[in-house]
Amino acid sequence: MKDRALATVLHRARVGSMVLVRLGVPGWRSARPGQFAMLQAEGSGCFLPRAFSVHAQREGSSDGSEVSFLIAPIGAATDELVALSPGDRVWALGPLGRGFDILGELPRHGAPGGSGRLLIVGGGVGVAPFVLALERLREIAAASTGGAHSEVLLLFGFRDAVQADALTLFEPAVAALRAEGVPVHLEGICEDGSLGRPGLVTKLLEEHARSGDAVIACGAHAMCEAVWDICLRTGDGLDAWFSLEAGMACGFGSCLGCVMPMADGVLARVCREGPVFSGREVFGEARHPCAAPDAGGGGS
Ligand SMILES: Cc1cc2nc3c(=O)[nH]c(=O)nc-3n(C[C@H](O)[C@H](O)[C@H](O)COP(=O)(O)OP(=O)(O)OC[C@H]3O[C@@H](n4cnc5c(N)ncnc54)[C@H](O)[C@@H]3O)c2cc1C
Ligand code: FES
Repeated sequence: MKDRALATVLHRARVGSMVLVRLGVPGWRSARPGQFAMLQAEGSGCFLPRAFSVHAQREGSSDGSEVSFLIAPIGAATDELVALSPGDRVWALGPLGRGFDILGELPRHGAPGGSGRLLIVGGGVGVAPFVLALERLREIAAASTGGAHSEVLLLFGFRDAVQADALTLFEPAVAALRAEGVPVHLEGICEDGSLGRPGLVTKLLEEHARSGDAVIACGAHAMCEAVWDICLRTGDGLDAWFSLEAGMACGFGSCLGCVMPMADGVLARVCREGPVFSGREVFGEARHPCAAPDAGGGGS
């Protein structure tokens, strides 16, 4: 683990109910999609830093890289971070954890006859890691190593139209991936119906999922459980990976504050062995007893 760095706020922009904060981070190592950083405003009144998925990054000069985070203000630490102005400073430790490292392997990894389609499912601020994921998919497609996906579907769920403003953040990355010849479908749904019919993101997944697809997902735990339940019902060969949330203190495996039981009963540190886990690792093969077709799946 490297030391934390004192980053500088370069830009802050409100995006609906969330805030995009771009930091200049000295000594930043390139993050993989799904990795996160522990952030804490300098002079914070909160004792501990908090975890945030890397939203986007631009590797830079000796002054540092530009690294963006999409933050939903829900409490003391996130309120502090979204109130910062350009020039303010933030302690940043990262990138940390295991990301969606499977991305480049998925078209070959799936069962024989796999569709080659990738379904990206996000709920609320859980959409945060997927701009970086699209950028990685664009790199894979540009390199044409045989690992490119035949189609990418982005299925995002929000509480309301204000939260759904986050969809605008994806337009440049979607256009860049399409420019590499990969068909991309982006669809959002709101619980209150402000994007059309009301519903949860699991409704979109049920409509689109086919046997042989691969799914990556990030959102509230109930959404992830419901997504995995759909995967199990959709049939053999549909596989999924989830970025999980847990309260974190250190972010690098030392405090054991984030441990979570896996399907086999073994405890895993979400910050170190995760935050990305396969559906089989975390939920197992059995359907969740409480899972209903439309359980969970909105904004986190
Ligand atoms: C790997 C990882 C990546 C994350 N990525 C992002 C991101 O990109 N953008 C973002 O806005 N947030 C993200 N989070 C969640 C973020 O860390 C929490 O929102 C933050 O810790 C809240 O701190 P706070 O002091 O503002 O609120 P608190 O006062 O700590 O919490 C406010 C309320 O939210 C609940 N809560 C706090 N943290 C969590 C959590 N992790 N899961 C579920 N409920 C929680 C608390 O129980 C409390 O009810 C991520 C968390 C993890 C573990
Ligand atoms: S947050 Fe300390 S071990 Fe995971």
